[in-house]
Amino acid sequence: MHTSPNSKPWWQSCVVYQVYPRSFKDSNGDGVGDLNGIIEKLDYIRDLGVQAIWLSPFYPSPMVDFGYDIADYCDVDPLFGSLDDFDRLVRETHARGLKIIIDWVPNHTSDQHPWFKESRSSRDNPKRDWYIWRSPSLSQNSENLGGDGLPNNWGSVFGGPAWTFDPHTGQYYLHQFVKEQPDLNWRNPEVQTAMFETLRFWLRRGVDGFRMDVIAMTVKDKELRDNPTNPNASPNLPPNDIYGRLLEKYNLDQDDVHELIRQIRGVLDEFDDRCGIGELWGPLPRWVRYYGQNGDELHLPFNFRLMWVPFSAEGIRGSVDELEAALPPFAWPNYVLGNHDQPRLATRFGGQSQARLAAMLLLTLRGTPTLYYGDELGMENGYIPPEKVVDPQGKNLGHARTRDVCRTPMQWDDSPFAGFSPNEPWLPVSADFQTRNMNAQADDPASMLTLYRRLLQLRRETPALAVGSYSPVTVSAENCFVYRRTSDRAECIVALNFSAENRQVSLPNARRGKILLSTHLDRHETLETISLRPFEGVILALEG
Ligand code: NOJ
Repeated sequence: MHTSPNSKPWWQSCVVYQVYPRSFKDSNGDGVGDLNGIIEKLDYIRDLGVQAIWLSPFYPSPMVDFGYDIADYCDVDPLFGSLDDFDRLVRETHARGLKIIIDWVPNHTSDQHPWFKESRSSRDNPKRDWYIWRSPSLSQNSENLGGDGLPNNWGSVFGGPAWTFDPHTGQYYLHQFVKEQPDLNWRNPEVQTAMFETLRFWLRRGVDGFRMDVIAMTVKDKELRDNPTNPNASPNLPPNDIYGRLLEKYNLDQDDVHELIRQIRGVLDEFDDRCGIGELWGPLPRWVRYYGQNGDELHLPFNFRLMWVPFSAEGIRGSVDELEAALPPFAWPNYVLGNHDQPRLATRFGGQSQARLAAMLLLTLRGTPTLYYGDELGMENGYIPPEKVVDPQGKNLGHARTRDVCRTPMQWDDSPFAGFSPNEPWLPVSADFQTRNMNAQADDPASMLTLYRRLLQLRRETPALAVGSYSPVTVSAENCFVYRRTSDRAECIVALNFSAENRQVSLPNARRGKILLSTHLDRHETLETISLRPFEGVILALEG
């Protein structure tokens, strides 16, 4: 197996950088980012100091869900370029020593996919059973929130019922997202075979791994039973949020999804050194099962827990310790603090100082970090006026839920469209681009970008931080999270002050430590007791 210098598989010692292709760099002036734009910026990504990129979908798509509605799993949408451009992207990425991971969306296709067009054409079409069709009125639940006649009570994540009636054949089809995203029937072996081939198509082209979209949804309850009502649903949900009012008991995380994931892993293992990442939510004891019995499922089930715990030392430490305790010995942790579905981390955590602390946290915990484009500049939620909302979630469930806010164009410089495109982009550039942009931060010794680069460099150069063990250190300082990262060669302490006040933290066993990096980028003392400023974090090398 191809391993990194510290002899861990690459997906354990790397940092992943997520690129949302529509918003990264537009090379042809149509206002939408593309593959050639990404190629132009590969040097930037390499110099940032990450080791892998993950691309959100670039497949042919009607773009109802901006590429998560795929009309052909084996091609590139002309908006993004061509297969030749993709091959060049793979070559150029590898030439810089970076890995490339792509999105794979197995739960649903676009309604424009030829498979669905065939499937909906008649009840006896050979592909009818490739999707999930049911006749009206099988619902066992008289309280079906979606209305009469629906096959069951399930809701679509993006609002409304999960079923749409197709008058042509007189049946409903299932879609757990918008109606233009029909769910595939993964219980049909022909679907499995066809979809496994789509993986091989990209593996042969040299991709190093896949991020698998809502992988736990692929296999549903055999009988499609009604989901129970969620007793803790917020009373403020919009009326059409049926999904939010129900528990996800039968529509996802069924025991037999694991057999499918083992098969997917088998496909990855036909090739050298590839990695499977899954988008997975849910309670820890069930989530941990996605690593497999002995590591035979996903390499990295995405861990999103830190995104929503309270931004406090106790909340964060609780989440990290719970995860560490739940992992079987073969399983490698990972952490995500931002992506294309959630508010920007700088907005979510309350500001730039908190975002700096979060950066140090993400890049010093034990486990593979995934970093979202623009977070390295401290990009905040963009303001999208209601009439400019394009995200189906925002259009259906209300302005407050739109994900457009975290998908605004990358801020490269202070030119009219932030250097993203010469022309008006598909989403408005965030208002702060003239001051918050890559160009302005690149040579500023105190900028967020400089902090990220220094953190990534330190992580690369310090095996204790990249792959060492983790142990929490209990300290008396209120609202401070302190932990030790240890390898056979070195011992580091990370001390993070989550409070808005100064705090004193003493190093364990009265040892001395040299500050390697502060989130404030301004100190390198050697000391026994550290004075941390509000929201300051430091990494120290322990002496002796
Ligand atoms: C999860 C993806 O991250 C999200 O962007 C998408 O809308 C849904 N899955 C549906 O594919």
